[in-house]
Amino acid sequence: EDYDDYRTTDVLVVGSGIAGLAAALGAAREGADVTVATKATRPEGASSWWAQGGIAVSRDDPDQFKEDILAASADTADPAAVDVLVDEANDAVSDVLVDTLGVEFDTNGGAEADAPDADGDAFDFGREAAHDEARILHVDASTGKAIHVPFLNYLDAHDDVTVRDDTAALELVSHEGRVNGALLERDGEVTPTFAGATILATGGIGDLYPRSTNPDGSTGDGIAMAALAGADVADMEYVQFHPTVYPGGDDPDDGPFLVSEAVRGEGARLLDGEGERFMPDYHEDAELAPRDVVARAVQTEIDTTGEVRLDVSPLDFAGEFPGLAEKCEARGVDWESGIPVGPAEHFLCGGVDVDTRGRASLDRLYAVGECSRTGVHGANRLASTSLLEGLVWGLRAGEDASGLDPEVVEAPELLDRDPALPDNFAREKFHRLRRTMDEYVGLRRSPDDLGRAQAVLRRLKGEVDAYVRTRTARSLYELRHASVTALLVTRAAAENGESVGTHNLVEEPATTRAD
Ligand code: SIN
Repeated sequence: EDYDDYRTTDVLVVGSGIAGLAAALGAAREGADVTVATKATRPEGASSWWAQGGIAVSRDDPDQFKEDILAASADTADPAAVDVLVDEANDAVSDVLVDTLGVEFDTNGGAEADAPDADGDAFDFGREAAHDEARILHVDASTGKAIHVPFLNYLDAHDDVTVRDDTAALELVSHEGRVNGALLERDGEVTPTFAGATILATGGIGDLYPRSTNPDGSTGDGIAMAALAGADVADMEYVQFHPTVYPGGDDPDDGPFLVSEAVRGEGARLLDGEGERFMPDYHEDAELAPRDVVARAVQTEIDTTGEVRLDVSPLDFAGEFPGLAEKCEARGVDWESGIPVGPAEHFLCGGVDVDTRGRASLDRLYAVGECSRTGVHGANRLASTSLLEGLVWGLRAGEDASGLDPEVVEAPELLDRDPALPDNFAREKFHRLRRTMDEYVGLRRSPDDLGRAQAVLRRLKGEVDAYVRTRTARSLYELRHASVTALLVTRAAAENGESVGTHNLVEEPATTRAD
């Protein structure tokens, strides 16, 4: 064994959003010793912290909830996975979020509201696009924060859970189809952690696009590491764009932010550059049509009329969404005259292919949350189901993964490599990668553009791999993971000749060129 500094743990969780934290909780409840390795800055480095709308539950009509998920996915979601999600929703939310963490979801006041299936209207259930009824538990439009902070605190205080901050996973340790842990990097030092089971919970791929609702560092790490180790991935072409993101301005303090679908759920309307409402022309559900339909319509109207604004005058915006109103005001956006919005990358529906317990195709490897493909989302995810998927699959995977002893095996030798990288190397390559994905692998895709993107990305990955042989900088590995993931998205898109959900094929290539 060349590494004299290594660690062992029963369950290694990579990532600290709701899915990773639920996996840690599930495993610790089974008596496992758990290590959570996370590169995300606390607490806002995890996408879950940013979640606005909320977490959907089934109330008293689970069948309708299942139908809504399947319909939003254009019938491409896996009904067996949808059954698991919906059938476990209420219990998981009551048990973990309400009872264990004490999250106080917004109520209508007065009545006792301590469980999602509690009688009547105690909770202030929110409504979002493509949901047949109001069924979304929320805390203002800051639901992610209200869940994430107590969840981190709870696990920090748990005797069987160690959270290792500022720690990135560079590679999986895999051997003959079995995964035995990962190589972890902190402060430039690389050491293996050997685990009985490894659970990937690394979130999304926002860093592959110039505009995204994800926090920085969303580079597809788990997906790339799993794929490089030989695990199956699926549905990678289904990249969801959120239709209403304030795009930000040139000032670094004027960054983009999500304007929750819940605002449309309360009656806000989309207006084109001439101030005309347009969504009724695109879909009978108008502003509450499935997200892929609204995102494409918004882009079309921006292209033809110059801009799109979200008119919040039909609702009491400042009263119902005080956090969003404050964000607008802090950036000098006069929300009373409509909030400028456009589509931005939001969520990857595909990922590491897993079963209903989060098991990947390699032995002792699991994936949960956005980096996984459970089949729940198909080609288009229904709003407010991602926190729920992370919670339900996290718990299931954590439980399943416990009980295996770590094995100390030979790990890839990275000790003699240089932890540094030439200045600007990562920045320049990331810029090329994002431009390529934006222009060729965005809301509308043509076979020609996808072919071009693959050529650019293959070249880029070759340049990155040449450095990986001698260096271990975290930014280099993030770039490697991003370029592997970008290629997986692009290849899957090129291989799928059917326009469905978020994957939309057009004949005409884009007019601008990234290469
Ligand atoms: C939103 O608040 O609009 C986002 C909800 C989601 O992505 O599920």
